[in-house]
Amino acid sequence: MTDDPRRLAISALVRIDTEGAFANVVLPRMLEESDLDSRDRGFVTELVYGSTRRRRALDHVVERYLVQEPPPTAKAALRLGAYQLIELGTPAHAAVSATVSAAPKRFRGLVNAILRKVATASAAGIEYPSDAVALSYPDWIVDRLRRDLGDEAADNAMRTMNKPALVHRRDDGYVQDQSSQLVAEAVPIREGALVLDLCAAPGGKATALAARGARVVAADIRRSRVGLISDNRATLGLDDLHPVVADGRFPPFRRESFDAVLVDAPCSGLGALRRRADARWRIQPGDVDNLVELQVALLAEVSGLVKPGGFLVYSVCTLTAEETSGVVRTVSDRDELQSFELVPHSQPAWDVSDGVSLLLPDDDHDGMGLASWQRG
Ligand SMILES: C[S@@+](CC[C@H](N)C(=O)[O-])C[C@H]1O[C@@H](n2cnc3c(N)ncnc32)[C@H](O)[C@@H]1O
Repeated sequence: MTDDPRRLAISALVRIDTEGAFANVVLPRMLEESDLDSRDRGFVTELVYGSTRRRRALDHVVERYLVQEPPPTAKAALRLGAYQLIELGTPAHAAVSATVSAAPKRFRGLVNAILRKVATASAAGIEYPSDAVALSYPDWIVDRLRRDLGDEAADNAMRTMNKPALVHRRDDGYVQDQSSQLVAEAVPIREGALVLDLCAAPGGKATALAARGARVVAADIRRSRVGLISDNRATLGLDDLHPVVADGRFPPFRRESFDAVLVDAPCSGLGALRRRADARWRIQPGDVDNLVELQVALLAEVSGLVKPGGFLVYSVCTLTAEETSGVVRTVSDRDELQSFELVPHSQPAWDVSDGVSLLLPDDDHDGMGLASWQRG
């Protein structure tokens, strides 16, 4: 394994770009196998995640100087160099020479020639052909978030999600985004309440609920991910947290047995894109429709498990109208929820409309949608 951070970054980018590897899976593994110290690991992480988020904008700049599509390793080196020049403001001589020497020998001439041009262009100021290219998102995400949130809020959200997430630790040491902490706090429970977290892995919200004194059943469809809940349960010493493998569409629990049910549903993740550098390039518009179907099915199915007077809470780390207000409207109209009433949230940071509270991403928060019903 290499001890050159840029060489490692180029290998990681090739795997993410051409082999479909998940950035947040492949990179930690490669870093683990390397001899790099923690400072260099942080640098590689910034380079790989940053170049991946900014892929569309960087490619636009680089492609102007290419006559044909370069091989994957050369392309990765060019993105990496352009990222340092344009986004990190690394001095041209350092960015170019260090990136050239990290590239395989046969591509060094090409990488050197193109990066010099990129350095000149960057110094002069780069113009992008569209906002979507400048922001470095697929057109459909830009269009959809602008339609659903308004241009200004959407653009601010997208700019925020181009920066790395800050690390927030709870009092018990568990690392959890502040929006997720707010969601767990929004589940109305008393000490000893019986709570079902239907989509619980890796257990962030379930452990927060158990730490508040609830008895928590933490279900998830994926066995391997339920193992993560068990690990977190052990680390945090939470005895009254019970991991279960279950498909929430067919919940194996008694009707009217829970004081509260949390459905932290699978979603398009468009409010938390900074956490998964490559996610914006993977998710497709059609995925949103499939997710909406699943979200509605989970909520309708599990509503029968809530005791009279108990609560059903829905959260997603996305901002699309379909997955937030759309799902809430559809579910509220279903027969299963006729004895439920939407209860608005009064937390100040959230923007409430159409029965859904939205938290837009900022430096300290992922974007999140939240809604709760109480059973009559
Ligand atoms: C947003 S994540 C949950 C995050 C978790 N609540 C936390 O705070 O750490 C959504 C989870 O839903 C699970 N899931 C997907 N389909 C499911 C289903 N049909 N039933 C139960 N869980 C499901 C996924 O495996 C994934 O772990």
